[in-house]
Amino acid sequence: MEENSAANLRGKDIIGLENFSPEEIRLVLRTAREMKKIIRGDMKKLGNLRGKAIVNLFLEASTRTRTSFELAGKYLGADVVSINASTSSITKGESLRDTLMTIEAMGVDAIVIRHKSEGTAEYAAQIVKPVIINAGDGAHAHPSQALLDLFTIEQAKGRLAGLKVAIVGDILHSRVARSDIFGMTKMGMEVHLAGPKTLLPRFFEFDGVQVHDRIEDAISRADVINILRIQLERQQAGLFPSAREYARVFGINKERLSLAKEDVLILHPGPQNKGLEISNEVTYCENSAIHEQVQNGVAVRMALLDLTLREK
Ligand code: NCD
Repeated sequence: MEENSAANLRGKDIIGLENFSPEEIRLVLRTAREMKKIIRGDMKKLGNLRGKAIVNLFLEASTRTRTSFELAGKYLGADVVSINASTSSITKGESLRDTLMTIEAMGVDAIVIRHKSEGTAEYAAQIVKPVIINAGDGAHAHPSQALLDLFTIEQAKGRLAGLKVAIVGDILHSRVARSDIFGMTKMGMEVHLAGPKTLLPRFFEFDGVQVHDRIEDAISRADVINILRIQLERQQAGLFPSAREYARVFGINKERLSLAKEDVLILHPGPQNKGLEISNEVTYCENSAIHEQVQNGVAVRMALLDLTLREK
């Protein structure tokens, strides 16, 4: 039986998980399960989005997110074009508004956008009609990453509600943390944050979220640890200790891992700073789902494109 059949994302802009209901999150996770079977099969081409056109407008660096949105669109039969910062007319001084209107004029159905400034996806949604999917706007939100984190956890643990998750590292600059916090608390998870005080905003202290100064307190008896990348490109002077100090006090290594549950699931959105926030042995240990997250990213992005764009 179709549960939660009331949830429907058709035509919706995907800006942040703060705007999602638990039913909508469940709908994406359910659809991603079906999509994952396609990725694992021999015939990775569906007709679901035949006749639809998608532009990936990536104005900030990306490997995983851009490639997985591109493949997701192609596996569903859409035409997909990717534009990145260094090859776009933005380098000639064109405004974002004009770039968006130019893309719209070509008849596209969706624009997947990544930008270094917070609020860009919301702005794009006000300017143009195609569905806007936020692939990361500054430190604000990264909804498809949070959905793939939830999907990976659910696949590994069989549930979400009641699990204890520790999100550790550079919370202040992390759009992944922000989207995870909204998504995870909506799904009934218990969220613990830890990192250096300067990178740990207290405004996250709300129902379902606890902030710790000591990493040991956050990861103790955790079911899941999500290790964030230190966003070296977004740091201001004075916020970040030395790399050696960070690795010593906050880095996740085998020894710290033993404080968590034995079957703790390790996540990292990538790219990783090895030896800084995560040790090599943790990346490759059997609890690590970091590699799986990448495949799940394609499945979740297929689900998002299908749910927002497919004609029923
Ligand atoms: C994240 C991002 O760009 O926000 N990476 C990703 O999408 N896989 C996290 C990061 O850059 O640290």
